[in-house]
Amino acid sequence: MSTPDRIQEILGADGLLARSLSNFEPRESQNKMARIIAEAIGREMPALVEAGTGTGKTLGYLVPLWLSDKKSVISTRTKTLQEQIFFKDIPLLAHATGHRLSAMLMKGRKNYLCLRRYHQYFTQASILPTEAGSYHKRLQKWLQHTRLADRAELAWLRDDDPLWDAISSTADQCHGSRCLHGEDCFLNALRREAARSRIIIANHHLLFADLMVKEGGFGEVLPRFEVLVCDEAQGIEEIATQYLGNRLSDHQLILFIDDLEEALKDAALEDDQDLKGHLASVRAGAIRLRDLFATSGPKGRLTEASIKMINEGPAAGIRRGLDYIQKEWKEALSEYPLTYQFYDDWFDSMYEKEERFGRIISFFAILAISISCIGILGLAIFTAEKRTKEIGIRKVNGATAGNILMLLTREFTLLVLIAFVIASPVAFLAVRKWLQDFAYQTDISWWVFVVSGLSALFIAWSTVGWNSFRAAKRNPVEALRAE
Ligand SMILES: Nc1ncnc2c1ncn2[C@@H]1O[C@H](COP(=O)(O)OP(=O)(O)OP(=O)(O)O)[C@@H](O)[C@H]1O
Ligand code: SF4
Ligand SMILES: [Mg+2]
Repeated sequence: MSTPDRIQEILGADGLLARSLSNFEPRESQNKMARIIAEAIGREMPALVEAGTGTGKTLGYLVPLWLSDKKSVISTRTKTLQEQIFFKDIPLLAHATGHRLSAMLMKGRKNYLCLRRYHQYFTQASILPTEAGSYHKRLQKWLQHTRLADRAELAWLRDDDPLWDAISSTADQCHGSRCLHGEDCFLNALRREAARSRIIIANHHLLFADLMVKEGGFGEVLPRFEVLVCDEAQGIEEIATQYLGNRLSDHQLILFIDDLEEALKDAALEDDQDLKGHLASVRAGAIRLRDLFATSGPKGRLTEASIKMINEGPAAGIRRGLDYIQKEWKEALSEYPLTYQFYDDWFDSMYEKEERFGRIISFFAILAISISCIGILGLAIFTAEKRTKEIGIRKVNGATAGNILMLLTREFTLLVLIAFVIASPVAFLAVRKWLQDFAYQTDISWWVFVVSGLSALFIAWSTVGWNSFRAAKRNPVEALRAE
């Protein structure tokens, strides 16, 4: 079936949508939009569509996207439209066609919790507000079941609560691949989900941030995609400028020069005429730039000619001046070395006590296991000797070496199992008490006990195994003669 026919099958008067949507009306403009977009996708060409409000543009592009089978990004300006597409239009299309559509909603990173900042925040107990304890408990509970730690799931947290600013993810403070929480990081989970989804509903900010980082070769915000739909595209160029443009504030430049001139009065550099000249040219360049922008087009939009003029005129003077200042600064202030500390080291030092405690516990555990092994071995030798006669009789009566081995190890197995049943709850309670004092509480899993039990059995069997094997293999005549 051709693509226009398939579109008709969904959007037509007797189509699949007409059967699912009670107030559905066939709209030629919607159908035409879907055909134009399908053609653009097929020919890998851009398409620009403008249609009146209420036309049903969302389904107009969702239908060809769905038919195309290509990895797509839909970029919107508002959260409302994002939610309309994700919670209403896509489920409607999936219901009408009977096919699930793998789609995900992707918000800006500030909407997701950063595990590293969260732990850092709740470790600084001395500076936390009084209600932090109850927040911490609620967040801990939430973190046990949330999939992506999206702030929208926290209905109880006030919109203006500063807590979220302290624990949400930010690009500036993200440790990326060096992060200790990288494995459990929700941002990483979000990226993995985006990589799997066929349609990603993002917004213009994410889209241009993605273009910016991809252009700079610094990774990606969105996974690679084949089709892009920009809905609510009015004003999109402003957002594009924010991410792809260069930023310079004349005000900050002038303040910077004021500060430097003030500092020069006390420093040995006051007589440096060159430096003074460069400071003056940066100031003059900044003022000239401000005047140029004040007289340019709407919202300071510049033409190619004025950009050239700026680059060759005031911008060149500012650049030269700043380079000179930077050079002088390095020479004059070389006695102030830059000191820094890696955050990971600081974090590690906080847990030094626990690490030392862990090492001591491991040492004593190994000691206890060794002593137990010697004890079990002694007991095994003693039992085998004591039961020499019994073993001999059993063998004469037809017991195999396997039966004898089983007989000798059964008692030890029982002893180990009894010890395990007594030790497990004690260990569980002790470890849980120890763990609950940590900012990031991890629960101890059941499989740790299964592995410990099996290891204890394995160690006990390997300790008594050889001795029991030897006793089982002994010639019964020898054993009975000795008796
Ligand atoms: N053919 C149709 N018949 C009836 N309802 C429809 C049809 N197509 C879409 N709708 C419904 O109309 C509503 C508006 O659709 P949509 O949001 O896509 O409009 P729009 O053209 O994008 O408008 P705007 O420019 O305001 O964003 C939605 O609830 C959608 O489910
Ligand atoms: S990788 Fe970045 S966002 Fe994720 S937990 Fe670490 S610092 Fe936070
Ligand atoms: Mg719309």
